[in-house]
Amino acid sequence: MKGVILHGGSGTRLRPLTHTGPKQLIKIANKPMSQYALEDLVSAGITDIAIVLGDVHPERVREYYGDGSRFGCRITYIEQERPLGIAHAISLARDFVGDDKFVVYLGDNILEGGIAEYARKFEEGDADAMVLLAESDHPRDFGVAEFDGSGRLVGLVEKPRVPPSNYVLVGIYFLTPSIFGEIARLKPSWRGELEITDALRDLLRDGGRVGHAFVRGWWKDTGTPEDLLLANQRILDRMEADFLDGRSVSGRVRLGKGAVVEEGARVVGPAVIGDGAVIGDGAFVGPYTSVADGAVIRGAEVENSIILDGAVLELRGARVVDSIIGAGSRVRAGGSVPRGIRLILGENSRIEL
Ligand code: TTP
Repeated sequence: MKGVILHGGSGTRLRPLTHTGPKQLIKIANKPMSQYALEDLVSAGITDIAIVLGDVHPERVREYYGDGSRFGCRITYIEQERPLGIAHAISLARDFVGDDKFVVYLGDNILEGGIAEYARKFEEGDADAMVLLAESDHPRDFGVAEFDGSGRLVGLVEKPRVPPSNYVLVGIYFLTPSIFGEIARLKPSWRGELEITDALRDLLRDGGRVGHAFVRGWWKDTGTPEDLLLANQRILDRMEADFLDGRSVSGRVRLGKGAVVEEGARVVGPAVIGDGAVIGDGAFVGPYTSVADGAVIRGAEVENSIILDGAVLELRGARVVDSIIGAGSRVRAGGSVPRGIRLILGENSRIEL
């Protein structure tokens, strides 16, 4: 079986972070979102992987993943010139897929339990496609499954006004080349995109066998800043780390190489501090915070936040919460600072308070 990771889209809901790079490269707990997908594929034994690149700085994706050897896989890059929809992105992988079964993984989806058991089930079965379903309180925001009285999957509908069930499509699709014919016949939806939900609906209608599995455990589709912060919390909660009980570092904290927690600073986990990061001079890094490589925090209290590579926060007495600070950004205060601040800041921004 082959793997296809979708790395395109516009990422409008994550602006300004997506002005300078694709959303799937934004780090959650110090690892790019799409790396969770890639590692999940590799750990399910899928090592022949295509990444479909979008039009938002695709070169950054090539630079990060290279030929894949660093991650134990072989990567083929495919370019999607414009975000014409998930089904459109999948159709571009036709030559890469050949006659094989394949799994499409949206690069902004994180599935805690991993795909291995579903991949095995699909590999061994004879279905034309298999979808993963999760129960949701907001089915109207997703593709939704419709079942008949005997629990058979009979329909799929994208963002319905009246959802036929509470089971929504996870952004991981097990497919065979039979999907390409359905995509070729699709018309763009009201939002101008070719929808994978419609292609799967048509496959069902045409008598294709579309299996399903209910995912156990936690799944997140990370389209908004709130989603990123929730995913960050969850991953930090589950990460492997020793429980520390020091004066300056306590709780479950992972400290990178060369990271420094200076005298008088405090880190309380769960938290991750990247390589070469500096927590200095009266700073407090509280629970559910990820500080990426080379970032510097002085003076401020930071909680439930994501501070990306090389960002600098120098804010005496301020409390920064529920924030995402883009790579290379600087936030400084000259005089007095509002006590609680919440910032969603793109890359290389400058803020003087
Ligand atoms: P979405 O989150 O639905 O779309 P988006 O990335 O454009 O975000 P926004 O709504 O905030 O503007 O996309 C779901 C996933 O599919 C995501 O990983 C991006 C990917 N994708 C593509 O690769 N190509 C596409 O044409 C589209 C629409 C999405």
